Amino acid sequence: MSVYDQIAQARSSAIGEIEQVDDMESLTALEPMLFGKKSTLGSLKRLMSEVDEAERAEVGQALNQAQTDVRDAHTAIKERFIAQNRRFQLETERLDLTESLAANKRGHLHLVTQTMERLEDVFVGMGFTVSEGPQAETDWYNFEALNLPAAHPARSMFDTLYLDLGERTEIGDGEGGEATNILLRTHTSPVQIRVMESSPPPIYTVCPGRVFRRDTADASHMPVFHQIEGLVVDHGISLTDLAGTLNEFTAAYFGGAIRSRLRPSYFPFTEPSAEFDITCVICEGDGCQTCQRTGWIELGGCGMVHPNVLANCGIDSEEWTGFAFGFGIDRLALMRYGIKDLRDMYTNDVRFLEQF
Ligand code: DAH
Repeated sequence: MSVYDQIAQARSSAIGEIEQVDDMESLTALEPMLFGKKSTLGSLKRLMSEVDEAERAEVGQALNQAQTDVRDAHTAIKERFIAQNRRFQLETERLDLTESLAANKRGHLHLVTQTMERLEDVFVGMGFTVSEGPQAETDWYNFEALNLPAAHPARSMFDTLYLDLGERTEIGDGEGGEATNILLRTHTSPVQIRVMESSPPPIYTVCPGRVFRRDTADASHMPVFHQIEGLVVDHGISLTDLAGTLNEFTAAYFGGAIRSRLRPSYFPFTEPSAEFDITCVICEGDGCQTCQRTGWIELGGCGMVHPNVLANCGIDSEEWTGFAFGFGIDRLALMRYGIKDLRDMYTNDVRFLEQF
């Protein structure tokens, strides 16, 4: 058999093999036999050294052409499988909302709203009122009044999104009529200020709501999330009241097996400040992956309202004392239902939403 016949035969047998394959897996398995050193075309290449010098260029060209043909056949069938797989995936993952209509599904409150309402219920049961504030805030409410002046290093805790309102981006709402930037509130703490400004103590209130931070969305972060803030101002309020209230809340919301504890921390708006942990709701304190084997999960921040903050709201800190706390709602829901990716909460796929 001439070397050309051998090449032609190797080419057609390789193409023949390709045409017999009927899925991506077998195609991948076939690849070494098509392109590897041990493939027929590969071994023919090694025979090149035995070909006469005069003929070498022509044989080489024939070999290259055969190899190109095999490659083309391989690419064509690979693309067909990719398209087929995509069609299959689209078909199986298809979401037809008219099917939900046909089943007369009614829809229900979103998991975050449900969680927020349950939290409100628990606090209302403990004698708290529910307060709200705007999501677009001034620098004064979000920072300054909370004892976070412009150059305060703790401002870096909050990656802030500022609003560009054109001409109106600066309004005279700062202390002493100064111009202030408008921003998306980075926490629910500014509602504390609004409550203290508008109603005299005693105050027992919680403020749930949406907050915003300049953050890239990943499994545990979203640029938009929810917090709930608590504020108590009364005669003779002490750290013990704070610890007791958090413990009471934890037991009421999660059940008696879950406790809370305080760890010293720092927030500009409280003194002393603490971070509060709860018993890991997954392992109930035994130690697991979720709590990194500590048995505890960090929930939020708290502390005794700083005298400067009370003064900023016109409350006499000699007469009144108070505590405050704040924690994330989304993360709480995530933990409670063992949801792995925070982003799932916001893609609004009914198959996810329906589960709650
Ligand atoms: N605002 C804080 C944050 O977003 C949480 C917080 C800490 C709220 C201490 C409080 C507090 O009311 O006293 O990180």
